[in-house]
Amino acid sequence: MPFTFYRGLSDTDLAAIVAYLRTVPAVDHDPGQSAYNIPLPPAYGPPVDSVADIPAGVTVEYGEYLAGPVAHCMECHTPMGPMGPMVDTDVGRGGFEFHGPWGISVASNITSHEDGLAGYSDAEIAAMITQGVRPDGSPMFPPMPYGFLANMTNEDLAAIILYLRNLPPLPDAG
Ligand code: HEC
Repeated sequence: MPFTFYRGLSDTDLAAIVAYLRTVPAVDHDPGQSAYNIPLPPAYGPPVDSVADIPAGVTVEYGEYLAGPVAHCMECHTPMGPMGPMVDTDVGRGGFEFHGPWGISVASNITSHEDGLAGYSDAEIAAMITQGVRPDGSPMFPPMPYGFLANMTNEDLAAIILYLRNLPPLPDAG
């Protein structure tokens, strides 16, 4: 659960999410209890009081808000350290492995480095995010939520791509 990023959700957006959850039809199902292999971070930080709205628009700041608190792109695309995603030093560097029925997928480096997105056009990046298709036509692996991301407005997508272009370049780790 990407607490690191969800802490940054604006009061307005958080209230909208809660309102939506209240409308999800009730289902009687016990999903069981989680079992943790790692010690949870001692704290996810002090309680969040209030977060102001981030003005919408094709800006780096709004792109950062969408790629972080809203769509949690950066949770998957930042390597995991003992205290959670290493956002202070490695944001967007990729490398986290996802094991699932599909096998193993590895989160890509999505910084502005040549190991990341430097070689792609904006249109190619947009197609990878919303269609899960690489420029050579090959399909991309789960668990990136391509189907949900396809519902983004063109303006929101442009803001995210602008933000990614502005991420400090980091080579692949190792
Ligand atoms: C649940 C985890 C997850 C989330 C959330 C996620 N991604 Fe990904 N992403 C991945 C994985 C895993 C891959 C590699 C897929 C593959 O290898 O086929 C990937 C691949 C990519 C690529 C392809 C880059 C390349 O060079 O291969 C881009 C661009 C990208 N993601 C951007 C985003 C953006 C922007 C968001 C948010 C709007 C996002 N991702 C959300 C897991 C995620």
